[in-house]
Amino acid sequence: MVDEHRQPEVNIGLVGHVDHGKTTLVRALSGEWTDQHSEEMKRGISIRLGYADATLRKCPECEEPAPFTVEETCPEHDVETEVLRTVSFVDAPGHETLMATMLSGAALMDGAVLVVSAAEQVPQPQTEEHLMALDSIGIENIVIAQNKIDLVDGQTARENADQIRDFVEGTVAEGAPIVPISAEQEINIDLIIQALEDEIATPERDPEAPPELFVARSFDINRPGTTWGDLQGGVIGGSLVQGVLETDEEIEIRPGREIEAGNETEWEPVSTTVRSLEAGGEMVDSATPGGLLGVGTGLDPSLAKGDALAGQVAGDPDALPPVWEEFTMGVDLLDRLVGADEDEDVDEISTGEPLMLTVGTATTVGTVTSARDDEAEVSLKRPVCAQDGAQIAINRRVGARWRLIGIGTLRE
Ligand code: GTP
Repeated sequence: MVDEHRQPEVNIGLVGHVDHGKTTLVRALSGEWTDQHSEEMKRGISIRLGYADATLRKCPECEEPAPFTVEETCPEHDVETEVLRTVSFVDAPGHETLMATMLSGAALMDGAVLVVSAAEQVPQPQTEEHLMALDSIGIENIVIAQNKIDLVDGQTARENADQIRDFVEGTVAEGAPIVPISAEQEINIDLIIQALEDEIATPERDPEAPPELFVARSFDINRPGTTWGDLQGGVIGGSLVQGVLETDEEIEIRPGREIEAGNETEWEPVSTTVRSLEAGGEMVDSATPGGLLGVGTGLDPSLAKGDALAGQVAGDPDALPPVWEEFTMGVDLLDRLVGADEDEDVDEISTGEPLMLTVGTATTVGTVTSARDDEAEVSLKRPVCAQDGAQIAINRRVGARWRLIGIGTLRE
């Protein structure tokens, strides 16, 4: 077992426009580079949610605010630093076509850092779109990192900070601290840590609740050509939203796998055993809510290959939420389309239109079968596992891409 400080206890999202420095900031805080996919490396953007853990620390001898650090030893006083807590960073992609991935990450975020480049006009399209998403979803604990201050002079930095302040007025980020940093030059990293400690508290959770894990990724970790006897079971990665998960525990994953039944396709939950648990970079026997976990299972690895189980929910077979192939949702539309070049109103939802819906970490396309004033019935292409009352991000196709148009509430 790791000592309890080391297991990540809170998920902090990194959001903001493409190339404003989210991944670089995660690296400065965690020493890890979240862009691990080879395709991501090639394209240089965070395609899937990257995640990395960081242990935030404090030097017992430095004066405020300098004591905050991620170093184990204070370079100035040569003493061991004290552990405050371990956090997980969810690095959401800023590229405009990847909004769905950002939204599925938002389901796991207890708070967020909005990264804004000091070297560009505010707001850039995804700065606005991501902030609207945080606002709609109700992620209230926010720190604003004004990044790349090494590229601008003091006057420009101050003007940019004023622009940021004006831009977030009236949103969930109003009043959030704006911390000028350079992620690349590692300037003011102590101040960002201090802001994270002040603004993004570890939420209270109920460890007695049945375990429920939102799956964000899944993998087949076997090398090609591995012989049968050496095959490792499928691995799922995600976040426990409630309960405690233990090794050897029986779990179910819903909706599970698609099977052909005559001319129809059906979804069948899969059952398996937790073989191993990795939290905070170490193997543990039990994992508590918060942070991101790697769960080794007894699943046929081909079921988990290439994120095949992303968006599903794993947990206590007797207590998992139901699976929905269709549902009614209460609809709360945004006043206007964000992220568009020009302001456009959001039209009412109409019967027959396709919508992209993000429920928990699941993204699915649904066809509206009946649209009424403030609710819509949808039939889903891929079913989702979710609680009655779950929040849904609603996206509509506008031009060549999906755009966030509102928030729904799942109803039977
Ligand atoms: P996506 O994941 O694609 O949305 O981008 P991102 O926001 O994660 O940006 P990333 O961290 O990949 O940084 C983009 C570019 O900006 C890289 O070339 C970084 O080296 C550079 N960069 C990041 N932070 C700073 C900074 O503080 N100063 C300077 N000068 N460059 C920076």
